[in-house]
Amino acid sequence: MNRLRTWITGLALAVLVVAAGCGTKATDVGQAGQAGDGGKETIVVGTDAAYAPFEYVDADNNIVGFDIDLMKAIAEVAGFDVQFVNTAWEGIFITLQNGERDALISAITITDERKETMDFSEPYFEATQLIAVPQNADVTKFADLKAKNLRVGVQTGTTGDVAVSALLGKTSPNIKRYETTPHALQALAIGEVDAVVADNAVVLHYIQHNPNANFKAIADPSFPKESYGIAVKKGNRELLDKINRGLKAIKENGRYDEIYNAYFGKQ
Ligand code: ARG
Repeated sequence: MNRLRTWITGLALAVLVVAAGCGTKATDVGQAGQAGDGGKETIVVGTDAAYAPFEYVDADNNIVGFDIDLMKAIAEVAGFDVQFVNTAWEGIFITLQNGERDALISAITITDERKETMDFSEPYFEATQLIAVPQNADVTKFADLKAKNLRVGVQTGTTGDVAVSALLGKTSPNIKRYETTPHALQALAIGEVDAVVADNAVVLHYIQHNPNANFKAIADPSFPKESYGIAVKKGNRELLDKINRGLKAIKENGRYDEIYNAYFGKQ
């Protein structure tokens, strides 16, 4: 009986170990600083994987996307392993401070405010905001959202939220805040809001993959240029240096361009 129990426990453990080795499952949870394959340190990376094409969960429940490929390439040249953990955007920054995550890659815009509580890598991607509206909407510029008293959807706490809060006032009842950007875009599709303001590549990706939604994208020169960075806990120079060295190396050896073209090259 005892031997059977030992055997079953052993089997259960083996299953766990095999499951843990299966890469980037969306349900993976990890411990910071663990030794991974080949004795390399494993860096636990948080990402809000509802943000195609940067990070999303594919049909096999794997976390994939531009940011994921980029972080894996950086880790490879910098000599550490990465484990991705799907992490809700709201509260994602706290996970650095409490040590639940070592780094975050999540299309995060580097802002002065965020720099007060975390450190960022060198920029790795340029972005700006775009307005998504129904094809037939009478909107040509950002100011129209206010002038026409429209309801605007944003993902809570994003730079889109910051932009719309500046236009309409932070407490305006016309701002509808959603947990994820796809939720905001779905709200637009069903007419719960009249417009959505979000990162350009994500809006364009959505429009391209959901032609039946009949959205168009409106640019506005008043939206500032944004840069994405990989975030680490404030003061974690060691990891930041590794990430920056890795990023520099893959920009120089062509790997960055390969990944970029795979997601944003000519189609
Ligand atoms: N770039 C925007 C920001 O930093 C939005 C990022 C949202 N990322 C995500 N994976 N949901 O505020």
